[in-house]
Amino acid sequence: MTAADGPAEGERLQKVLARTGFGSRRKCEDLIDDGRVSVNGVTAILGQRVDTDHDRVEVDGIPVGVRQGLVYYLLNKPRGVVTTASDPHGRPTVIDLLPLEPRVFPVGRLDADTEGLLLLTNDGDLTHRLTHPSFGIEKEYLAQVEGTPSPGALRKLREGVELDDGMTAPAKASLVPPHTVRLTIHEGRNRQVRRMCGAVGHPVVRLVRTRIGPIAERQLAPGEWRPLTLAEVRALESAVSTAAK
Ligand code: URA
Repeated sequence: MTAADGPAEGERLQKVLARTGFGSRRKCEDLIDDGRVSVNGVTAILGQRVDTDHDRVEVDGIPVGVRQGLVYYLLNKPRGVVTTASDPHGRPTVIDLLPLEPRVFPVGRLDADTEGLLLLTNDGDLTHRLTHPSFGIEKEYLAQVEGTPSPGALRKLREGVELDDGMTAPAKASLVPPHTVRLTIHEGRNRQVRRMCGAVGHPVVRLVRTRIGPIAERQLAPGEWRPLTLAEVRALESAVSTAAK
């Protein structure tokens, strides 16, 4: 019996790869033939079937979310909406803005006052990798601040700022004159951007997240969402995989 005949359970690997965005079945067969695909750490062979609920599939060493029914949404969170499933103060939540089924969870959080891009998904594995500090995915913010930060203040933001929970890691910071700082960080501490800007003397008056790793989007109005494209999901998986230390 060859692998191609093999247990008639599960889904054929090339079909799984095709539906998760790796191109035509033919292209996916080539990926397998070229030895670039593994299942549970073992190089896959053409015709192999996988249990998409349990098997771990990787392409070029990058884990691929293959479970059926995984959804990935990109929301432009409006100000005043909380990033939890329910709020004791009765404020609207990000979950209220999205389809009820399947149930999704936010990837990390934005303060109620913060606007901008938020990912929500039912892919717990990708969520874990995106939020775990060791993967250090970049998040970019536009922070409108009080006053105009000097080159010295921007340098401090870049080099690291002493906060009450320790020094921040080096960041990217530039001025969008006259009152906005474009700040890119890869940590996820509580209210980090607000505290960093406050620490260099420029309290934040408005904060918008404009990019999460490879995902940026300018077309969504506040409160609007769209599904991520398969290419975007792939790009995120790849970003967390290459960012891993
Ligand atoms: N930094 C903040 O201060 N607030 C956010 O919501 C996100 C990052």
